[in-house]
Amino acid sequence: MITRLLALLALVAAPAFAADNLRPPLLLTGQRADVQDLSGRWTYSKDYYRTGLTDINGWVAKSRMQRHRDLDIAAEEAKPGTAFFEFDLDRGPAMQIPGAWNSAEPELRYYNGLIWFQRRFDIPAPKAGERSFLRFEAVNYRAYVYVNGKEVGRHEGGFTPFVLEVTDALRAQGNRLVVGVDSKHDAQSIPGEITDWDLYGGITRPVKLIRTPATFIDDATLRLTDAGRLVGSVQLNGAQAAGQPVNVQINALGIKAQATTDANGEARFDVAAPATLKRWTPEAPQLYAVRFASGTDAIDDRMGFRTIAVKGSEILLNGKPVMLRGVSIHEEELGANPARRLTDSAARALLSEVKQGLNGNYVRLSHYPHSETMLRAADELGLLVWSEIPVYWTVDWDNPAVLLKAKRQQAETIYRDRNRAALVMWSVGNETPVADNRTRFHAALAATVRELDPSRLISAALLVKRDGDTIQIADPLLAHLDVMAVNTYAGWYGDDKLEDLARLKWALPTDKPLIASEFGADALAGHHDGSAAPKKWSEEFQAAYYRETLAMLARIPNLRGLSPWVLKDFRSPRREHPVFQNGWNRKGLVSETGQRKQAFDVLAEHYRRPN
Ligand code: GCU
Repeated sequence: MITRLLALLALVAAPAFAADNLRPPLLLTGQRADVQDLSGRWTYSKDYYRTGLTDINGWVAKSRMQRHRDLDIAAEEAKPGTAFFEFDLDRGPAMQIPGAWNSAEPELRYYNGLIWFQRRFDIPAPKAGERSFLRFEAVNYRAYVYVNGKEVGRHEGGFTPFVLEVTDALRAQGNRLVVGVDSKHDAQSIPGEITDWDLYGGITRPVKLIRTPATFIDDATLRLTDAGRLVGSVQLNGAQAAGQPVNVQINALGIKAQATTDANGEARFDVAAPATLKRWTPEAPQLYAVRFASGTDAIDDRMGFRTIAVKGSEILLNGKPVMLRGVSIHEEELGANPARRLTDSAARALLSEVKQGLNGNYVRLSHYPHSETMLRAADELGLLVWSEIPVYWTVDWDNPAVLLKAKRQQAETIYRDRNRAALVMWSVGNETPVADNRTRFHAALAATVRELDPSRLISAALLVKRDGDTIQIADPLLAHLDVMAVNTYAGWYGDDKLEDLARLKWALPTDKPLIASEFGADALAGHHDGSAAPKKWSEEFQAAYYRETLAMLARIPNLRGLSPWVLKDFRSPRREHPVFQNGWNRKGLVSETGQRKQAFDVLAEHYRRPN
């Protein structure tokens, strides 16, 4: 009882987010030398009724069920006495982490609840003053973290990183890291309970143990401004954070700038970009090795420098109009049993289908923040990125705590990705029905984005309104967006025949750029219909749908981007046609194993045509 009370008090005492301070207390961004990757086989223990957290009637969990306890249970059981246990993570089954449990074992395919994971590890003897942190890249959806029996922190949100200090919790040998992962979503979660994608519960991205000096570089940013300057900042953390010299070095540009941290441990840079600087573009994704150093600490990054803006109905990349030739992507690797395990090669396999296969220059990473691996691959390959937080379909619009959760997810994403040149747009929502409370919610999110990252564009994938043959965008949220985006499915959902699309008219504002953020039709790869009017589910229908829809959209004068739904068939519990779906959404241009459908070539040919 005392343990839990102290842990809860510790949480309360932790630097809570004030409404206006959304910066996570620890970031540890950037690539650093002293990192221990804890990927590998982790044992696990199912806890369907959450007895490891709370017992029946809200009582404190029975100690015989508290998975986080720092006990060698086999040794305890060998002793005389009456103690007994109803778990043992040392002797439990194991699965590969990172990776979602739904794909790890058939019995876990639709498990939606709490599972406890354990990783044992040793550490080298710490140097004097050294500090240690655990950085989780993502845990879906709630995480309860214990080291050697002591709660070290919690996190809510399935797609963003969090960092916990464990300096005082570690020992040299046999550390016991226990993580309770609860995949259950509810009416107050972001996203809500129903989505058109798979559960994917678990520790889905890498977990790293990071050692730093007593005062270290917690975060560092640098970007190119419209005025041709490189501006950025470095944030130190530690007792000696204030008044410290910090420098940033870009050898390829002959840059070595120095600044001194203020009383808050922050140093700012503002230097003229040399004429030799090659701006990042999809065609020439130039990245530079950047090193930030202070005292005995240093972090490295590979950064591209470019500008992005809107001017009237144009999107300007480095001051020049750009057309976004893209596709929407879910975070799911190619293969028949994906585990949301996006390694660098898995990310490149997907993105090269866009870059080389479709001749694309853009991806909509829907409907939630994708892994940092994906963002870094987009930087390297040269693909512009739309990033999105999962304010999807509907959430509890009137609940301030839910808005704060969305703002936190947005902030955690911005702080993680703001050095990625490829990332040009933040989306604050997808297909949310127009209502005053919903628009207030999104407007507040847009204001948060504007405050945290004024250098990028803001959008949202909106619903269209249909009035006979006229498709309208009538949404008060438009006033808060730099770029309009709409999802349209005429010819798939609804009564339109494909031949009707030619007569549809679009009534929308023309003073902003428009992206067709979704359109698509299902097809089972290899299912064909050679008739003059191919039926739905066939590759031929999907190809005809793409031809008709692309022709319809091309008539919109301020169309500036396309991200059809979707690159690859993906798992969804909402898609259960026993012949064509079997738990897969089949709107992919390729099948789950990467087999291209006819529509793939229709889009690729469209993107090869000059604008
Ligand atoms: C919606 C939604 C997607 C969904 C798609 C579909 O627009 O944004 O998440 O998968 O339509 O119906 O396939």
